[in-house]
Amino acid sequence: MEVPLLDLKSEYLELRDEVLASIDEAISSMQLFLGPNVHALEQEFAELCGVKHAVGVGSGTEAVHFCLRALGIGEGDEVITPAWTFIATIEAIVHAGATPVVVDIAPAAYCIDPDATRAAITDATAAVMPVHIYGHPADMDAVGELCAEYDLKLIEDAAQAHGAAYKGQMCGSIGDCAVFSFYLSKNLGAYGEGGMVTTNSDAIADEVRLLRNHGHVSKFEHKIIGYNSRLDEIQAAILRVKLKRLEAGNQRRREIAARYNELLAEAPVTTPTEADGCIPCYHLYTLRAPRRDELAAHLHKRGIGYQMHYRAPVHLQPACKPLGLDRAILPETVKAADEVIQLPIYPGLTDEQVAYVAQTVCEFYGGQ
Ligand SMILES: Cc1ncc(COP(=O)(O)O)c(C=O)c1O
Repeated sequence: MEVPLLDLKSEYLELRDEVLASIDEAISSMQLFLGPNVHALEQEFAELCGVKHAVGVGSGTEAVHFCLRALGIGEGDEVITPAWTFIATIEAIVHAGATPVVVDIAPAAYCIDPDATRAAITDATAAVMPVHIYGHPADMDAVGELCAEYDLKLIEDAAQAHGAAYKGQMCGSIGDCAVFSFYLSKNLGAYGEGGMVTTNSDAIADEVRLLRNHGHVSKFEHKIIGYNSRLDEIQAAILRVKLKRLEAGNQRRREIAARYNELLAEAPVTTPTEADGCIPCYHLYTLRAPRRDELAAHLHKRGIGYQMHYRAPVHLQPACKPLGLDRAILPETVKAADEVIQLPIYPGLTDEQVAYVAQTVCEFYGGQ
């Protein structure tokens, strides 16, 4: 049996008629610039998150950048974030002119460690940016209390957390503002680039609207030096088709995760945990696995896709060396990089495929 890590082609075939009809409608109307689909998606996404504003932008990376800029964070400001994230989180801080300060993760859910965050706060700290990694919410109570105590801004990197919830609040509605990515492999993925900022603040939403569109306020009037980073109508049309299926897709991901957990209970691997009050959206299903690389080779031989997010933590990437991030001592982050492996998870995965993947993992350890 072949089990790909992700099967976007099959998903597309199921949605094809509806997606093509939406694209056709968008192009036929020739309203391709911040038009009806972007506005409708912004409303629908704001509703999903339970926030006042959702503002579509060109990518998740730009969403992070714009949030920082809208909060007035730039040169001389430090932003604390976990090193267990995609490099975009760090890039956007640098793009805003601020200084990234990376901290370790709490090992259970791979999210920012609140104690390490407290220890990293200096007079220059302006914001904390937890990442809801793999679609599991960070400890927002603890981080939120720290931000309140030290008067810091709180930005959620929810790029992997569409539809995840923390103690009754949707990810994306807890901080001063939040960012989502519509990169194609995400739980809500475009067929191109896209991102979204969510916030309850009128001022932040207004500033992001200016930043994404050349500071444009009215015909021939540009209030600030901005960017060309709009969400395009065609991507918005596609995302609206997919948004209708997000919750059902997330529900299926949760079922698959629970099934993997059950089937792997006897294997010497650590399956994902769900912190109290958290409803993850299982963007990825992550194991800690002894002899991880040998397991990966075994899965490959059996036709099963896998990945290692992240094989090398961001602070040890060559790109981050000039920033001095490699000097951070982050034992849990480094340990995770040696141990994690992701198994296939997506709504179209069948029960038989899940059983086959789990059985293959068990077979690997049984053969020790
Ligand atoms: C945690 C995290 N932050 C930010 C981003 C950036 O999003 P994009 O690829 O849409 O620019 C990603 C995308 O993979 C991500 O996983």
